[in-house]
Amino acid sequence: MRRTQKTLVIPVCLTLASLLSMAAKTYAQTVTIPVETQNNALVLQTDADKNLKMVYFGTKLTNTGEYAQILPMYKQADDSGILNSAYTPSGSANLAEPAITVTHADGNKSLNLVYVSHQVTKIDDDVTLLTVKLKDPAYPFEVTLYYKTYFKEDVTEQWSVIKHNEKGIVTLNKFASANLNLKGNGFWLKQYHGNWAEEMQPEEARLTHGIKTLDSKLGTRANLYEPSMFMVSMDKPATEDEGKVMLGSLEWSGNFKIDLELDVANNLRVIAGINNAASEYHLKPAEEFTTPAFVYTYSDHGKGDASRKLQRWARKYKIVDGQGERLTLLNNWETTYFDFNESKLAQLLKDTKKLGVDMFLLDDGWFGNSHPRNGDNAGLGDWQENKQKLPNGISSLVKEAQANGVKFGIWIEPEMVNPASDLYVKHPDWVIKQPNRPEKYFRNQLVLDLSNPQVQDFVYGVVDNLFTKNPDLAYIKWDCNAVIYNAYSSYLKKDQSHLYVDYVKGLYKVLERVRAKYPKVPLMLCSGGGGRVDYGALKYFTEFWPSDNTEPLERVFLQWEYSYFYPAITSSNHVTDWGKQPIKFRVDVAMMGKLGFDIVVSKLSEQDLNYVHDALKSYDYLKEAIWHGDQYRLQSPWDNDAASIMYVNDAKSKAVVFNYLVNNRYGAGTKVPIVLKGLDPQKKYSVKEINVYPGTNSSLGKDLTFTGNFLMTVGINPDVNSGRASVVLQLDEVK
Ligand code: DGJ
Repeated sequence: MRRTQKTLVIPVCLTLASLLSMAAKTYAQTVTIPVETQNNALVLQTDADKNLKMVYFGTKLTNTGEYAQILPMYKQADDSGILNSAYTPSGSANLAEPAITVTHADGNKSLNLVYVSHQVTKIDDDVTLLTVKLKDPAYPFEVTLYYKTYFKEDVTEQWSVIKHNEKGIVTLNKFASANLNLKGNGFWLKQYHGNWAEEMQPEEARLTHGIKTLDSKLGTRANLYEPSMFMVSMDKPATEDEGKVMLGSLEWSGNFKIDLELDVANNLRVIAGINNAASEYHLKPAEEFTTPAFVYTYSDHGKGDASRKLQRWARKYKIVDGQGERLTLLNNWETTYFDFNESKLAQLLKDTKKLGVDMFLLDDGWFGNSHPRNGDNAGLGDWQENKQKLPNGISSLVKEAQANGVKFGIWIEPEMVNPASDLYVKHPDWVIKQPNRPEKYFRNQLVLDLSNPQVQDFVYGVVDNLFTKNPDLAYIKWDCNAVIYNAYSSYLKKDQSHLYVDYVKGLYKVLERVRAKYPKVPLMLCSGGGGRVDYGALKYFTEFWPSDNTEPLERVFLQWEYSYFYPAITSSNHVTDWGKQPIKFRVDVAMMGKLGFDIVVSKLSEQDLNYVHDALKSYDYLKEAIWHGDQYRLQSPWDNDAASIMYVNDAKSKAVVFNYLVNNRYGAGTKVPIVLKGLDPQKKYSVKEINVYPGTNSSLGKDLTFTGNFLMTVGINPDVNSGRASVVLQLDEVK
């Protein structure tokens, strides 16, 4: 957003004097508020009745003054007069899907919201916050809309704050974060569905009239069947480099609801927020209800450009230490499952060193004594070291790791409890379950009630105790494997409908405390795979676990789709024994993010181990480009024999191109060159194949040098075929 005002905070009220002093263009009684970023604009405008409308969303205009003239250009039917409301109320003129529905203290269900004032606060050179105050003329009820814009990144976070001063409790029946109105000649929605080990399955289709809803009612692990990430193309389906497209997702780790309504006037209304299903919220006078942010970006240059904007924003502003370093690691989940003891771990610590990674990550199974965690049916909640497996505790393992020259990290799942645990017996009231119904388990476990401050203290304590007792603990993997069945909180008593919302707020309170005390320690966000990947949680984490599915061919597709919304530095990619591909293919795929391993190191042949050592060196050299550079999806795995993905560092002096065969049919491979992107056309680049398996030779030849212009016009053929199923190219500027 760029405004011409010089002052830091600019309050604007509907008085003549202030109207005249506003940079926002006003016409008679109307106020026009352009919310601009480097390339884009969202324009709000009041009508003669002070209804606030969203009149434009797209490429920004050169002349800001002309925003006020956009609306008259449209001659679309709108009997209600507020079809394009910036935050659609219900129970008055609006008969479309509302952003907000309330029951006033007197039982009346109507709401109207009119513009009162707006204020622009410049937070720094890049970030600006616009707030727009709306109120109901008939009730002391108000909503403030927040638009936080990141100018260079072309990203906006939007949310609302709701409050009232009525004589009694007001019930919020629906309370969206954002309500956008898009104009276009047709809209195409790209959405995702999935399940365990099948995350991020894409579907794209033209939206027809009526409402398409993306939602979750799972409570925790909310993304298991469907995440809140989506894209909408306008006019035609956008490609990587062409077309108008918006990417959005809700920064919320619980139930969400995104309504996409192609309305009577052929505009698309996007209403995104917490799912109101079974979640009406009772608001006391003067209390504020703050909705989570809906984050979105827009590009008129296709999905690739939009995704790079979101990735840059995430690295700079959202994830923990987005511009920092990450640890490579060896994890033991798939090599031991629950079956380990100190001597096995001692060997694994040696293996960590032998493999050449930074850290050993001890997974599930290290805790529980009266109910030892020897399987997934016991122990959750009892976070004491299992005395049989680990008689000398975690601290001796941390020391042993250090003696081996590696760091030590540990797995926890602190929000959960097995009925077979001391915690369950001691605190039945801490468990989410219906008092009069049989318990229903997901992976033999139940969810602790994080709406309860005592439970928040307990969960915080699990983390804090680990770090207090083991100050050198280097990493935590935070898992969350169950959904909420039989939602009921002993703590919330009469406010049962607050549970889904207060659970997530409770979780964030815990994570706030963790981050206040341990600001930089790496935390992995895991949820039985990618059941909880969202920017609400990622604000507290350095990385996430995309899926338990580490089959490398599947991963090419899965990582491809995640990358539209999340930067590579956040994607924990582990080399495992899933799939039949050789170690080279598996490592090459895992290198496109935060590299880790979960393999039996002793089973690697000498050549395999040499290959890994070599690949780790390349990774160390290229991680700057992979973690902090720009990503270009060159060739999709969905409709080509070979997928091709490229990362370029900021200086455009270093790049890496990963190419994988994704089709097993006879003769499948790269027949024509792959056109590279993101380079400097003027620069010269040496191109060499790296990660070449010991004893084999690259078919590409040596001393290859091309200009950026050539590589981005003609391209280069990595010669992917059944004998060369994975080919990695390193590019270096030649001075
Ligand atoms: C689910 C995770 O996705 C796995 O990586 C592993 O940590 C298991 N939980 C442990 O129970």
